[in-house]
Amino acid sequence: MSRLRLGILASGRGSNLQAIIDEIERGSLPAEIALVICNHPGAMALERAAKHGIKAVVIERKCYPTKAEYEVAMVEQLRAHGVDLVVLAGFDRVLGPEMVRAYAGRIINIHPSLLPAFGGGLHAQADALEYGVKVTGCTVHFVTEEVDAGPIILQKAVPVLEDDTVETLSARILAEEHKLLPEAIRLIAEGKVRIEGRRVRLLDS
Ligand code: GRF
Repeated sequence: MSRLRLGILASGRGSNLQAIIDEIERGSLPAEIALVICNHPGAMALERAAKHGIKAVVIERKCYPTKAEYEVAMVEQLRAHGVDLVVLAGFDRVLGPEMVRAYAGRIINIHPSLLPAFGGGLHAQADALEYGVKVTGCTVHFVTEEVDAGPIILQKAVPVLEDDTVETLSARILAEEHKLLPEAIRLIAEGKVRIEGRRVRLLDS
């Protein structure tokens, strides 16, 4: 069986990208990274890809007159590299219809909260702390045109501790993200994920 070909979209630090690379290199994830797309030229994600000999391209929003044209450029690259599954691993832009429709049901995202709580922004950990919840966590979900609202594949709860700061809480959530995202990709690669309406059924996992 051919390995699932991943297209990873990352914007910055790229620690989730690194977690995927590590799992693949360890032999525990039957997938390969066909392409990394980064929307910021100086991002550490690009260095990580280069270090592991992974093809990466920079596609910046500002180089295209419209968001639609920007997304078409990304879709062209993903298709040219035979990408089966698009993984948003710390991608800081909301995807529009050009991208979401081109890869319908084949785009996943990692979000640092237990959705539907604290969705729709880039400050989910700070929002959880400020709200005062005792438990937060992370979610891997399919991407639809509605932000952070697609069918949920996996979630992991993380307690909020009395002395937590945004930094300590974020770090504890991030450690779980690094396990959850590769695990979701593994389930998809093994054909164990079925979308049934709003729900995702996990087969024999
Ligand atoms: C992660 O917390 C992820 O959940 C969020 O952005 C952060 C990206 O971190 N979407 P990294 O770039 O993977 O290190």
